Amino acid sequence: MDRYAPLRRRTIALVGLMGVGKSSVGRRLANALELPFCDADAEVEAAAGRSITDIFAELGEPAFREGERRVIARLLEQPPHVLATGGGAFINPQTRALIKSKAISIWLKADLEVLARRVTRKDSRPLLAGRDPLEVLRAQAEVRYPAYGEADLVVETGDAAHHVTVEQVIQALRDHLPAGAP
Ligand code: S3P
Repeated sequence: MDRYAPLRRRTIALVGLMGVGKSSVGRRLANALELPFCDADAEVEAAAGRSITDIFAELGEPAFREGERRVIARLLEQPPHVLATGGGAFINPQTRALIKSKAISIWLKADLEVLARRVTRKDSRPLLAGRDPLEVLRAQAEVRYPAYGEADLVVETGDAAHHVTVEQVIQALRDHLPAGAP
């Protein structure tokens, strides 16, 4: 019997701050569950024909947020998949409501110090450009944690390797299944 079949019935949406591993964990999770993987940031870039950095610089953050909202609404119409969202997506009330109605949402959470260390390895995030990552993340946590708290599940990742987080997520999903699900 296919023990992951019950986990493939709905899209699994990963939410949380920058650097927590939504894309890396999401890709591995999709692999493990044999589901397609979609990365909302990459889909926004494809739809706009430019990088997120260029979207912010040339069109501004509101245009990015609008594109993000539209792209996620479109992805949620697709058959079940693992969806890595950008850090700000679940903060938009419309997007959050849509994700909550069409997917199982999982908040990946880690200490801000861990995230700050990780995000310095990549310079493709316009919200961090020229700023102290820990300060940006602290301010985001303050504003965003209440919204992330509305996710169906929370997985505390600590500083664990991504494959460990994938196991935690699978366990959390199994625990979340209604009792008696095949
Ligand atoms: C953002 C997070 C980024 C990307 C954009 C804005 C945010 O995605 O969507 O730079 O507002 O937190 P990641 O969380 O995948 O880095």
